[in-house]
Amino acid sequence: MIKLLITGTEGQLGQSFQAALDGRKDFIACAYNKAELDITDAGAVEAAIIKDRPDFLLNAAAYTLVDQAEVERDLSMQINQTGTANLAQACAANNIPIVHFSTDYVFDGSGNSLWSETDGPSPLNLYGASKLAGEREIQNICDQYLIFRTSWLFSPFGSNFVKSMLRLGAQRTDLSVVNDQIGKPTCTFEIVRLVLKILPRVNGRWGLYHLAQPEAISWHGFAREIFAEANRQGFELALEELFAIGSADYPVSAVRPKNSQLDCTKLEAAFNVQINPWQQSLSETLRVLQSDGRI
Ligand SMILES: NC(=O)c1ccc[n+]([C@@H]2O[C@H](COP(=O)([O-])OP(=O)(O)OC[C@H]3O[C@@H](n4cnc5c(N)ncnc54)[C@H](OP(=O)(O)O)[C@@H]3O)[C@@H](O)[C@H]2O)c1
Repeated sequence: MIKLLITGTEGQLGQSFQAALDGRKDFIACAYNKAELDITDAGAVEAAIIKDRPDFLLNAAAYTLVDQAEVERDLSMQINQTGTANLAQACAANNIPIVHFSTDYVFDGSGNSLWSETDGPSPLNLYGASKLAGEREIQNICDQYLIFRTSWLFSPFGSNFVKSMLRLGAQRTDLSVVNDQIGKPTCTFEIVRLVLKILPRVNGRWGLYHLAQPEAISWHGFAREIFAEANRQGFELALEELFAIGSADYPVSAVRPKNSQLDCTKLEAAFNVQINPWQQSLSETLRVLQSDGRI
């Protein structure tokens, strides 16, 4: 039985871990939402680790408001850097491995190639900078860590692009979505499946890994796939036209990378796993949303 201490359990990744662990006999989870364990409180983090003595600390807590981070720099750094450093210190002091999640937004998105773990990060926005600072805290403090950089998360939980598209598509007859940012949409269900497969056999292969589902697509292309699948599953949509626009025509506070494609071959080779395509996860997510009426 592997014991996990999970932080941030009300986020989309945190809820996905909880849902997957429910009823499993090979894992036991000590789950903490933000009110129960604030990762910026170093004393509370240390106390929880000493009380639970987990085999792994799994950090699903983060500041994830990409545009808001431009005006909440201190808060985003406090959570994503200082909070992560608190977890790393407590884990290192108690010889507990830490599992952490980071983002494609550590890269500047230049060029057309896939980004590998050895490429130099250079974030374009403050959210990306705060996540990079968190990665570096772990790398400086811990010997035993797994950092999974992922991208464009979606799930039936919380807020994400899939749910926004379904909501807007039910209300509006036309939508405009940017087509000059390319990335790999990734479902939290697939992250959870892989992480739970990897943990029992990590066997010293600590380090930084990219974990995103194939294949790369633009936000506009992804929206088209979401509506096609929603139509197949009988969602009621008002949408008639889906327009492609450039990022310049959709002004937001934070600059996003144009090319966010993560190269995930290191993870697949190290742990002998295959990352499933996002299309099947999208169908599953829509089925869950449809059955729960959760949009
Ligand atoms: N979402 C994406 O598209 C995306 C893409 C790439 C990487 N990632 C990374 O993947 C991970 C999971 O993302 P997600 O989408 O599941 O995020 P999420 O839904 O925003 O969940 C994050 C959770 O952390 C909680 N939290 C915030 N501050 C906290 C604190 N000080 N102490 C404890 N908990 C705190 C939040 O609570 P409140 O909501 O109450 O503040 C929320 O429940 C993050 O590391 C994120 O950076 C996400």
